[in-house]
Amino acid sequence: MKVTLSVIKADIGGYVGHSESHPDVLEAAREGLAKAKKSGLLIDYCVTKCGDDLELIMTHQSGVENKEVHQLGWDTFCEGTRIAKKLKLHGAGQDLLKDAFSGNVKGLGPGLAEMEFEERVSEPVLIFMADKTSAGSWNMPLYKIFADPFNTIGLVIAENMHNGFIFEVLDVKEHRKILFNTPEEIYDMLVLIGAPSHYAVRAIYHKDTNEIAAVSSTQKLCFLAGRYVGKDDPVCVVRSQGQFPAVGEVLEPFCAPILVEGWMRGSHMGPLMPVSVQDSTPTRFDGPPRVICLGFQLSNGKLIGPRDMFADRSFDLAREEANLMADMMRRHGPFEPHRLPLEQMEYTTMPQVMKKIEGRFQPAED
Ligand code: F6R
Ligand code: MG
Ligand code: MG
Repeated sequence: MKVTLSVIKADIGGYVGHSESHPDVLEAAREGLAKAKKSGLLIDYCVTKCGDDLELIMTHQSGVENKEVHQLGWDTFCEGTRIAKKLKLHGAGQDLLKDAFSGNVKGLGPGLAEMEFEERVSEPVLIFMADKTSAGSWNMPLYKIFADPFNTIGLVIAENMHNGFIFEVLDVKEHRKILFNTPEEIYDMLVLIGAPSHYAVRAIYHKDTNEIAAVSSTQKLCFLAGRYVGKDDPVCVVRSQGQFPAVGEVLEPFCAPILVEGWMRGSHMGPLMPVSVQDSTPTRFDGPPRVICLGFQLSNGKLIGPRDMFADRSFDLAREEANLMADMMRRHGPFEPHRLPLEQMEYTTMPQVMKKIEGRFQPAED
C-alpha cells in the first residue's frame, strides 16, 4: 500500500527559555492528532519534542502537501500556542510567522519533511530531529550515509546499493535545485553541499529504482521572516534496510560530532550532540545543538515504535567528544569560528548594532 509520512515541526514556546517543551503543549498535540486518527485523516501519529521544538510525526494516505494534513499541523501548533501563551512560555508562537493558514504550511514558519512511498514487506524508517541548528545541517550526515563507503559499507558490498543514489540539492538563496548522481559526481556536489548555509540536500533517491530514500526540511526561517526569529531546527526522514543503508549505517555519522550553525542566538557554531529524547534539553549557553532519532517499523501505515535510537550506550563517547568540542569552541567567546562569519550574522540581531556605529566610519589612509 502507498503511505505518506509527514513530519511537521515548530517551536511554539520554550520551557524554560529555549531549553525544553512543556508537557501540557505535548499533551494537547497528542489529543489533537488522536482526534484526526479517529476521524480517519491519519493512520497513525507520534508526538515528540527535541528541545523547544514540537514534532508531529504522521502517517496517512493523502499524499504529500495535502491541505487537510497541513491544516491539522497548523491547527495543532495554534492550539499549542494558545496553551504556551496561557503558561507564558518563552517565545510562545515563535515560529508561526503568518496569522492565517493558506493551504500549505510551507512558507508559514513550520519545518516540513514528507515522502510518499509503497510500503515494503519490512519498512524501517528513522526520523532525525534537531534543535539549535539550521536547515543544511543534514548535508554531511546524508553524504556519509548515502555516498561515503567508509561510513556505509553496503555501497561497496551490497549489490542493490552498489550503483549509488541521486541527491537533490536546493540552493536556498536562489530558490533553484540541482540533481547529482553519486558516486560519479561527488566532487561537483561537495563544492555545493560543503556550504550548508547556502545549499541543502533536500531529497535522495535510489539510482536503480528511483525510490525516495530520504527527505529533509529545508525551510529557512530567517529568509521567510527577513530577520532572525529563531533557528530552523530541521528534521530529516531516512528509509532503511534492503536497498537502503542499514539502520547502523544511517546512525554511524553521528558517532563523530560535527560543528553546525545555530548555537546561542543562532549566531554560533557548535557540535551536534546525539542524545535521547529525554536529554534533548539544550541548556549550556543554550546548547550545544542536539539531534535525536526515533526509529519505527511501518505496518500498513501504523508507526510501530518509537525506538529512541540515540539512547544507546554506543553514543556515549560521541556525547563526551561533543562536550569537549563545546569547550573548545566556547574558548573563542565572541570570535570566529565560534561566532558565525560576518556575512551570516546578517540574519541575527547584530545588524542593529552595526547600524548604530555605521556613521562613525572614516576613510582610511592605507
Ligand atoms: C538559539 C536560541 C536561543 C535564543 C536566546 C535569546 O536558537 O533559541 O539561543 O536566541 O536565548 O532568546 P530571546 O531573544 O528569545 O531572549
Ligand atoms: Mg525557541
Ligand atoms: Mg528550537
